[in-house]
Amino acid sequence: MKVAVLGAAGGIGQALSLLLKTQLPAGSELALYDIAPVTPGVAKDLSHIPTAVAIDGFGKDDLHKALEGADIVLIPAGVPRKPGMDRADLFNVNAGVVKHLAEQIADVCPTAAVCIITNPVNTTVAIAAEVFKAKGCYNKSKLFGVTTLDVIRAETFIAEAKGLNPADVNINVIGGHSGVTILPLISQLGLDFTAEEIEAMTVRIQNAGTEVVEAKAGGGSATLSMGQAAARFCLSLVKAMNGENVVECAYVDGGSDHAEFFAQPLRLGTNGVEEVLGYGQISAFEKDALEGMLDTLKGDIAKGVEFVKS
Ligand code: NAI
Repeated sequence: MKVAVLGAAGGIGQALSLLLKTQLPAGSELALYDIAPVTPGVAKDLSHIPTAVAIDGFGKDDLHKALEGADIVLIPAGVPRKPGMDRADLFNVNAGVVKHLAEQIADVCPTAAVCIITNPVNTTVAIAAEVFKAKGCYNKSKLFGVTTLDVIRAETFIAEAKGLNPADVNINVIGGHSGVTILPLISQLGLDFTAEEIEAMTVRIQNAGTEVVEAKAGGGSATLSMGQAAARFCLSLVKAMNGENVVECAYVDGGSDHAEFFAQPLRLGTNGVEEVLGYGQISAFEKDALEGMLDTLKGDIAKGVEFVKS
């Protein structure tokens, strides 16, 4: 299995690459690409870790070499938020970055599974889908918006609130990946929360990214927890593509009446998404929140479609 990380020299890219170097199955290959000149050095640094994962770094002009033969491409390339910004403010720079990278993926490794981390995820995934459609290689089972950070945040905060081991909390987070479009289905956990506590917990999970942006005071957004979240998703996908059944939530095309792209629990397998699993019963509060997010989510998706078409 070859995994390419595009944007590998950044905050997320380096944390993610470290986790993959130490956790990918023996015999895997890791290709690090970034426009930053430090990239071959990041790969050299990681290459001294004694695991049976081959690693190579590729600079600005070598994107095609990084992508050749890739089975999975992870994209954390682009600019992160600063205090006062929301994810949509990143569109002007990141839309072009994702469009360019998707075009090159279509040319070099059109059958790879593509996992997009670059924000605004609600929009950048739609951009990649439009690029792949225009290039005639769109496979919706192999395009993912990575929303795992919302899942691990929910697991952490809920475990903290209830004195549980986070490893024992498994929660579905549906919708999208920004503000009100992030909807953790806390009611399904069967834990003893009041309505007020559920509302406060939902808002905390929705705004958790901003907590980090503010705490880093201009130094960027979540990188280490996002590295862990993306590594979890990638390692699940590797297992699935090697024949195991794995369930993860991610933002994908299809399987939902709510919007063209929707984050939901998926059964992953050798071909990427094998089955979109229903998200099950939800509470009245969650139904309202779902209803209330749809205009925002659909608007975010339309912006991505228009960007590629215009
Ligand atoms: P960063 O600034 O530390 O790293 C970004 C890297 O992308 C840099 O090394 C830069 O050189 C590289 N880059 C820029 N344009 C490129 C191109 N055309 N090709 C290849 N590499 C390119 O940023 P950070 O903190 O790693 O965040 C990256 C992205 O991930 C941001 O858009 C951020 O908003 C997003 N993010 C997504 C999350 C999610 O849950 N999906 C959570 C946190 C951040």
